[in-house]
Amino acid sequence: MCGIVGYIGKKNAVDVIYCGLEKLEYRGYDSAGIAVIDNKKIQRRRSIGKLKNLQENIKTNSIYGNIGIGHTRWATHGKPSQENAHPHTDCNEKIVVVHNGIIENYIELKKSLQNEGHKFSSQTDTEVIAHLIEKYYKNDLLVAVKLALKDIRGSYAICAICKEDKSRIVVARKDAPLVIGVALGEKYIASDVSALLQYTKDVIFLENGDVAEIKEDSIKIFDIDDNVVDRKSQKILWNAIQAEKCGYKHFMLKEIFEQAQTTQDTFRGRISDELNKIILESIKLTKKEILSISRICIVACGTSYHAGLISKFLFEKFTEIPTEVNIASEFRYCSPVIDDKVLTIFISQSGETADTLAALRLARGKKSKTIAICNVVGSSISREANYTLYTHCGPEIGVASTKAFTGQLTALYLLVMYIASIKEVISNEQLANFISGLRDIPNKISETLKLSSQIEEIAKLFQNTKQFIYLARNINYPIALEGALKLKEISYIYAEGYPAGEMKHGPIALIDETMPVMVIATNSKVYEKVLSNIEEAKARGAKIIAIANKSNNDIVKNSDYQIFVPEVDDFFSPLINVIPLQFFAYFVSVMKGCDVDQPRNLAKSVTVE
Ligand code: M6R
Repeated sequence: MCGIVGYIGKKNAVDVIYCGLEKLEYRGYDSAGIAVIDNKKIQRRRSIGKLKNLQENIKTNSIYGNIGIGHTRWATHGKPSQENAHPHTDCNEKIVVVHNGIIENYIELKKSLQNEGHKFSSQTDTEVIAHLIEKYYKNDLLVAVKLALKDIRGSYAICAICKEDKSRIVVARKDAPLVIGVALGEKYIASDVSALLQYTKDVIFLENGDVAEIKEDSIKIFDIDDNVVDRKSQKILWNAIQAEKCGYKHFMLKEIFEQAQTTQDTFRGRISDELNKIILESIKLTKKEILSISRICIVACGTSYHAGLISKFLFEKFTEIPTEVNIASEFRYCSPVIDDKVLTIFISQSGETADTLAALRLARGKKSKTIAICNVVGSSISREANYTLYTHCGPEIGVASTKAFTGQLTALYLLVMYIASIKEVISNEQLANFISGLRDIPNKISETLKLSSQIEEIAKLFQNTKQFIYLARNINYPIALEGALKLKEISYIYAEGYPAGEMKHGPIALIDETMPVMVIATNSKVYEKVLSNIEEAKARGAKIIAIANKSNNDIVKNSDYQIFVPEVDDFFSPLINVIPLQFFAYFVSVMKGCDVDQPRNLAKSVTVE
């Protein structure tokens, strides 16, 4: 994520940028910084922590300028610290840059720049951009930025300024948002319109691959093929709060819709088609250590626990390592049998969940090798685990976890296949199929997101229901648990997730016409079995909503409502099947008038036992 802001005009850029960053703080808040050009010098202030720390810093060490850039950071590469905070400069503090995105090839770029004599002062991927621009700079910032971008692989929204030319800001975007605010004699730049609305309602949305040169009185935009293009400005009618949510009514809805992008961000730079390889630089386990793993023990809470449950199927199938999954609050009070041959994996969006953190400390005390899968960079769990695999989903604001869950699953898929390939227990062909399947997931998610209005219609019919059962089998059983958890936590409807085959051992007694059943019946080796379980529920009067694939002909006569999701390999199906359940819970919650983003009695990060 991260938020970026830029300004050029007659006002004090520091004030404008600070106000813009305040609006973008939801995009990241581990550090922030502003740089302006004053008297042919770059003046830069950076502070760790929330924006108000930057404000204090600027109060005591004031800076001034009519052109500047600013950033609020959501760490991806390099821990939250002052030296990793943006803006970043080149060796001579001539050029200064802010960036949102991930530079996939930054390690190789950094090495070659260092060989050419460039000195780096941070661990970020962003700093390579400043040095590349420096390398290509020959009195023309626009040309230098364009050349630098040719070397870069990955996603970016950037703003760059140069102390030798305070008449322009050069910006560019690819797979990360950037808008330009247009006003007479001044221009604004930001990651989203929320940061601009207090100054102007006229904005230009840059398109993928665009580079723009922005001056007080002009904007020149070049498209991906370097042709000058005319991008029309649009009038934005949102208010500030709508804008922060990019026009969505709630953060949860926005985060559901972000999932095509966030899953891609999780695997970006970690798979290579050419090498048929998974590259997890942060996991520094040696081949010998991986071969010696006797058991995998996964520990997490809530939604993260459900991601862990799914990965058990994957670890056992592909790595051939026995895997168990534990609820963190239970794990710490039983007597886990763990030693240095056990790999423990801790999954946590926030990285601060008290029970998961305590479990991690327990495992480390028993000499286990520990891996954290976290979204928040620099969080306690990510710092204390031996190795961390970040999900790169950006801040998740809605209490109900959505994009973090699909990010965790994506990270787990990568980890499973990484371990399996190092152990050489999967073939090259299996790995190649996995890589191409994973690459296609964002498209399949985008298709699934188009089902939202159909699901809203179904939700209308069930908004007054008092109870719900969610059924599935095998790798989708945890998705039934996750769907039920989503409904419970945001709409306060009692919901149970159950393995469909277990119904006849008790819970089927609950079924009558007042108990609707949501069932996952996509194509898989257990599809026929699920059909039988649906019939058992239907025979007892339950209304059935089925998540299915179009090719499942029988489902239409066996169920009352069908949500047809795109077909993917059963192995990847949890990533798709969870989305209709997120939407369903969301729409029911809205219809019931519940507080979607901050449901009663809950907190985003549970830092107490
Ligand atoms: O930050 P964590 O992933 O450790 O949080 C774990 C749970 O508290 C969290 O997943 C919770 O269950 C969510 N509210 C579910 O939507």
